[in-house]
Amino acid sequence: MEIAGKNIVITGAGRGMGRQFAMDLKKLGAKPYALDVIQENLDALKNETGIPGKVVDVTNEDEVAAFFDSYTAENGAPDVLVNNAGITADSLFIKKKGDDIKKFSLSNWQKVIDVNLTGVFLCAREASAQMVKHGVKGLILNISSVSRHGNVGQTNYSATKAGVAAMTVTWAKELSRAGIRAVAIAPGFIRTEMTEKIDQKIIDKITVMIPSGRFGEMKEISRTVQFIIECDYVNGRTLDIDGGLRI
Ligand code: CAA
Repeated sequence: MEIAGKNIVITGAGRGMGRQFAMDLKKLGAKPYALDVIQENLDALKNETGIPGKVVDVTNEDEVAAFFDSYTAENGAPDVLVNNAGITADSLFIKKKGDDIKKFSLSNWQKVIDVNLTGVFLCAREASAQMVKHGVKGLILNISSVSRHGNVGQTNYSATKAGVAAMTVTWAKELSRAGIRAVAIAPGFIRTEMTEKIDQKIIDKITVMIPSGRFGEMKEISRTVQFIIECDYVNGRTLDIDGGLRI
């Protein structure tokens, strides 16, 4: 698929990697549209780049469906959905503190499942419904993570990112009859606001496990997004772009 002129909806595009994807795709002539939950970030993106956006909570079924209806009525069906919105709420599964045993909280489990798994499910469902309805041979591009292989402190996040990879295969198999591809990227540790929160001691510990010897850059994942859009034979796979790290 050529990038120029394409309708590309990107979730979680108010900042971080999603913002980078949107800016880079716009430079290549695409028509990106940003979704996020923080209005100020969308305003800043619009002011700096002219990229339009809307506050949509990806966990809310009615909001997601209404957005894809109105977006399609205005612009035509999306050619590409980049399912990028994701959160972390890290903590050890079980931690012994003196005589106390601290357990991974159900609320931290649930909130990450809601955004990273249900959100991806809802956006992909609504975007692909519009593609099928309007005969658009599009692409569902999901952002998984190297944590899909399991990572210390990320029981919830790892489960969602493995789920995203599995849903990608399922959708590639099901949607191929409509000419729609489904592909995922599993970024490794990339320099973003999300990884900035990690303690330096742990960053050092992780870095020595990365054969490339460093965290990745957002641009490097953005290049992968562009490659996947352009190369029609990439389908049903999750590409680990992680400097060689497999946890
Ligand atoms: N890899 C390897 N070792 C890790 C680790 C990791 N990701 N996270 C924690 N550890 C180790 C710590 O170094 C520590 O080891 P020692 O006891 O030998 O010192 C041990 O696990 C316990 O950790 P803490 O002492 O930090 O325990 P805590 O209860 O205070 O905090 C935690 C637990 C919140 C999970 C904290 O360790 C943490 O934030 N870890 C980082 C988790 C992580 O990797 N998150 C990735 C965020 S970025 C992201 O998610 C994007 C993506 O797609 C990759």
